[in-house]
Amino acid sequence: EKDGYDYFMLKEIAEQPKAVADTLLGRIDGSGTLLLDEVRIPPSELREVTKIVIVACGTAYHAGMIAKYAIEHWTRIPCETELASEFRYRDPILDHRTLVVAISQSGETMDTLMALRHAREQGARVLAICNTNGSTIPRESDAVLYTHAGPEVAVASTKAFLTQLVACYLVALYLGQVRGTKWGDEIGSVIQELSAIAVQVEEVLGTMEPVRELARSLADKNTVLFLGRHVGFPVALEGALKLKELAYMHAEGFAAGELKHGPIALIEEDLPVVVVVPSPRGRSVLHDKIVSNIQEIRARGARTIVIAEEGDETVVPYADHLIRIPPTPTLLQPLVATVPLQVFACELATARGNEVDQPRNLAKSVTVE
Ligand code: M6R
Repeated sequence: EKDGYDYFMLKEIAEQPKAVADTLLGRIDGSGTLLLDEVRIPPSELREVTKIVIVACGTAYHAGMIAKYAIEHWTRIPCETELASEFRYRDPILDHRTLVVAISQSGETMDTLMALRHAREQGARVLAICNTNGSTIPRESDAVLYTHAGPEVAVASTKAFLTQLVACYLVALYLGQVRGTKWGDEIGSVIQELSAIAVQVEEVLGTMEPVRELARSLADKNTVLFLGRHVGFPVALEGALKLKELAYMHAEGFAAGELKHGPIALIEEDLPVVVVVPSPRGRSVLHDKIVSNIQEIRARGARTIVIAEEGDETVVPYADHLIRIPPTPTLLQPLVATVPLQVFACELATARGNEVDQPRNLAKSVTVE
């Protein structure tokens, strides 16, 4: 079943280009129009939506954090992303014009299920993004957009995450299409670039040997920090989560702009810090700010592990290790930037002698609150 791979996780990482392509399949027509009739909420109702709330846990929550950037940018509908386990306990403000998006690989996560039940009781519409056909979360939702990642066996989520992102982008673009917001050149070109992303994920997978080597050299470390900004911030959180669950290491993700508000005090000689650098073409202000963050932490002794676009030469002088990813539009970068972090965590777990597919204390789906 592992198709010759040592672990399901390795197999599932390798399957990501196909999973991404499968999730797009049949959902974009030849003229770049999105075909999401399967989302059975009528366009008239989608045009009435005044607020979007995304609820999810763990890795799916990170996908939801990224989705917020995409949804607000492409649709101009206010969007918030909340941990499903916190959602209903704060008496959230919901009505029939709120669209709640519940993201779950398994479709059985109790926290997410309870959040969506609460949302429906308050009259909100619920759209599930789910990988498991006929599971509880889609059954209890008003509509569902399935991710087509195929079965994910390893406890650590990889291909489900990438396909959740694709599904979130599709929802965001579809809302833009239905509502006619910002439906211009930008969205047309994003759809094209989304269609090309599977090939780019494949390219990244072909260049991972130095990442594995780096991971092995860090096997005796206790802490790794991750920094990012904008959509790179949830990517940093996801990199840290993977490392916690697989390598049992202390790992934390920060928004790079928060560094000087506290976390920079953690920087010490030889501390590995992974930095996700935004494209220099997109939000270039953020790019330049993060380059100065890299300089600051390196001056304090950090061992910098920099994930940056091919052709971005500005980071070269400050990177102890440089991991290249192909150029993508800013909002799509998580699809390529997360892959090295998955490989990194998997290899570190192996080097530390941990059980990769079944990390201690964890279950694949968390069916209790
Ligand atoms: O099945 P779900 O997507 O609802 O699961 C949510 C989380 O439990 C899950 O993503 C968890 O964080 C993973 N083990 C992360 O790798």
